[in-house]
Amino acid sequence: MPTTLIRNGTVVTAERSVAADILVDGEKIRDIAPSLPTEAAGRVIDATGMLLLPGGIDAHTHLDMPFGGTTSSDDFETGTRAAAFGGTTTLIDFAIQAKGTRMRDALDTWWKKADGRAVIDYGLHMIVTDLGECGLDDMDSMVADGVASFKLFMAYPGVLMVDDATIFQALSRTAKNGALICMHAENGGVIDVIVRRALAEGKTTPIHHALTRPVTAEAEAVHRAICLAEMAGAPVYIVHLSSEEALNQVREARDRGVPAFAETCPQYLLLSIEELARPGFEGAKYVFTPPLREKRHSPKLWDGLKNDHLQVVSTDHCPFCFEDQKSLGKDDFTKIPNGGPGVENRLQLLYHHGVNLGRLSLNRFVELVATTPAKLFGLYPRKGTLAPGSDADIVVWDPRADHVISAKTHHMRVDYSMFEGFTVKGNAKLVMSRGDVIVEDGVYHGRPGRGQYLKRAARGGAWA
Ligand code: URP
Ligand code: ZN
Ligand code: ZN
Repeated sequence: MPTTLIRNGTVVTAERSVAADILVDGEKIRDIAPSLPTEAAGRVIDATGMLLLPGGIDAHTHLDMPFGGTTSSDDFETGTRAAAFGGTTTLIDFAIQAKGTRMRDALDTWWKKADGRAVIDYGLHMIVTDLGECGLDDMDSMVADGVASFKLFMAYPGVLMVDDATIFQALSRTAKNGALICMHAENGGVIDVIVRRALAEGKTTPIHHALTRPVTAEAEAVHRAICLAEMAGAPVYIVHLSSEEALNQVREARDRGVPAFAETCPQYLLLSIEELARPGFEGAKYVFTPPLREKRHSPKLWDGLKNDHLQVVSTDHCPFCFEDQKSLGKDDFTKIPNGGPGVENRLQLLYHHGVNLGRLSLNRFVELVATTPAKLFGLYPRKGTLAPGSDADIVVWDPRADHVISAKTHHMRVDYSMFEGFTVKGNAKLVMSRGDVIVEDGVYHGRPGRGQYLKRAARGGAWA
């Protein structure tokens, strides 16, 4: 097996930063120590001045996903390739159980979407839309296939939303099988009424997407989700948390010792509702749920990340092209496909706005983008850290690299960037996935199909 020695870098994990070399043997890390011998190594990479990070884990993406009358514009090849450019070496995407069908059908469908295309390793959550006769047993068989987490929707009535009884039953099943329920927490019934009122008043432009989804609809659903989980005796993970009031619910639960966890996304940390009021139809680029909030929320989310009230930063990458997909909702904001692109920029944005601006330590940054998602979703210590025996998913990070984010240069298959013109300092110089260098100095060396499906373990970190 070929060996690679990465020399003279600073190895950064969630626990510490140390000057050390990393010896990679085939797909795994064999050794981490100062001054490892160079003679026997097949390739030597000089990482002087660089940080060596565990490959990023994005626990929330939607590739090739049918939604809102169209399909997200990145497939498993373009999406995983873009992820790699940004230093992410593992994704957890979502398979969707169509109502009235078995979860196994959805799993087969998503395996086919990824097979032969994925450039980096990936796992799958299962979106449960219907428990029917066999749904609870199906959840057990999903866990046996490495689908150790399920997403349930408290929003999108008639499409993805499930009722409290279904949520409680699913949570109760995970209390036995050790999976983790991921909750889209917004009160969909209330939002639906507010949306219908707005349309009746002729309010059809993108800003009304945000104005019809109040913060309280998120906070109430987060509170309810946590109560249901408590009654079921199971942990719960709130996805794409966007507001101070929702965060307060998670913090209060955690203070009481309840195993509640939550992620936020760069868009909620760095953008605000004003984006939806851009001239013409431009605001459609920022239509996703929960919506962007007023500016007062983002400092609270940053504090939440620092103080472990929030545990993960994912992207909710769900790209739709502005020209021919977002335009489906030109005359009616409810027809704008919900979602935004971001899988490529997560580490750049969080490093610059978190570490460089003094909001996060370097170790906390690694914990948020790699280690905790690996622990919560049953991938640790194979993924999410740098240690002998772990997969050689390594990012050589140049802390001095200047980069301007733009749709003109990004690798995501989408015709705009939510962060157009943002300048960041710090970027991936070299990205290694299971020992293969797949990106180096902006040049792609990966291959579609090299990414492997990850069978994830139940009873991960949420059960500790
Ligand atoms: O608007 C969003 N977030 N689209 C993706 C689906 C979801 O709810 O995560
Ligand atoms: Zn969601
Ligand atoms: Zn999502």
